[in-house]
Amino acid sequence: MTSTEFQRLPDRRLCVAPMMAHTDRHFRYLLRLISSRVMLYSEMLTTGALLNGEPSRRLAFDAAEHPVGLQVGGADPVALARCARIAESAGYDEVNLNVGCPSDRVRSGRFGACLMAEPGLVAECAAAMLAAVRIPISVKSRIGIDGRESYDDLARFIDTVAGTGCRIFIVHARKAVLGGLSPRQNREVPPLRHEFVHRLKRDFPDLEIIVNGGIRSLEGARDQLAYVDGAMIGRAACDNPYLLAVADRELFGLGTPAASRREVLERFIDYMETRLASGDTLQAMTRHLLGLFQGQPGARSFRRHLSQHARASAAGIAIIREALELAAGARHSLHSAGCQPAVLPIHPAASRRDGTC
Ligand SMILES: Cc1cc2nc3c(=O)[nH]c(=O)nc-3n(C[C@H](O)[C@H](O)[C@H](O)COP(=O)(O)O)c2cc1C
Repeated sequence: MTSTEFQRLPDRRLCVAPMMAHTDRHFRYLLRLISSRVMLYSEMLTTGALLNGEPSRRLAFDAAEHPVGLQVGGADPVALARCARIAESAGYDEVNLNVGCPSDRVRSGRFGACLMAEPGLVAECAAAMLAAVRIPISVKSRIGIDGRESYDDLARFIDTVAGTGCRIFIVHARKAVLGGLSPRQNREVPPLRHEFVHRLKRDFPDLEIIVNGGIRSLEGARDQLAYVDGAMIGRAACDNPYLLAVADRELFGLGTPAASRREVLERFIDYMETRLASGDTLQAMTRHLLGLFQGQPGARSFRRHLSQHARASAAGIAIIREALELAAGARHSLHSAGCQPAVLPIHPAASRRDGTC
């Protein structure tokens, strides 16, 4: 399906969240091998990085990744409109404005979550972006920030921004605490209030409302669809990307059978070979594979082998096949010993790496 067809058929019932240091092109490609429909988002790119840096390398993506949105961070309507144009020319299916990042660095640039205190400015930004492009513009926010944390504050924010014609709102159902909590704590400490987001959908039935925060399984995402238009999964997709495998059949109603983990890996190896030839490093890609066998016997051996060897300068695709063999060996020994496979702890990378948002 081309990006144009996706514009006619936007489907955000299941999305993977924008995550710095995670949702780069390689991870998105891997996820696309697992689900053909889940909506994907990039890491946040600031207007400064897009307009003053050399964005072409960071914006590049594989056509297979569609549908994919670019997330931008900024607060200058003119700069954001230019970025939206750049995203559209680069082929992205949507541009998402970050109004949820609580990091000090982002706050000092006066964008991210602190913009929830300035709904008028967010509306100006959204209006400028909408006027600049034909692809959809969405806003990803929190449910509030300190001092503006009531449902009425949230509803006023959404109402103001929706007044520009912006129809798509992704809401992380936690308030952001600005100052005092790290970005990581800001994803864990403030309590989840999914009911705020459900109420938004009741109060603004014409808007597309997507809930985010604490959704750890496909069943959890599906449960949310009783209340809102879509569910966005973040850390759980890093810990266990294969959780998306049944999404095409069970959530999007497609007849296609899910590829097995091994098939996904074989296809990703083909992709890696192409990317290695273009100069990407092996480790930049293998790090996204660490959770692929999450919960499966042999997952630990697979993960350990990749983590230990992918960084070596001489490392090549062979180490992935070795990791797979080790995992198969571990599985075999478990079976011969009559053991039940232990469910392995959650892949720690997503929780360890703090990112900026
Ligand atoms: C490592 C990491 C980086 C993140 N980077 C971004 C980002 O660039 N932009 C953004 O809007 N949110 C970012 N987030 C927040 C997620 O998009 C999401 O809102 C949050 O993790 C809650 O969803 P979850 O409970 O499903 O993980 C990040 C989260 C993590 C764990």
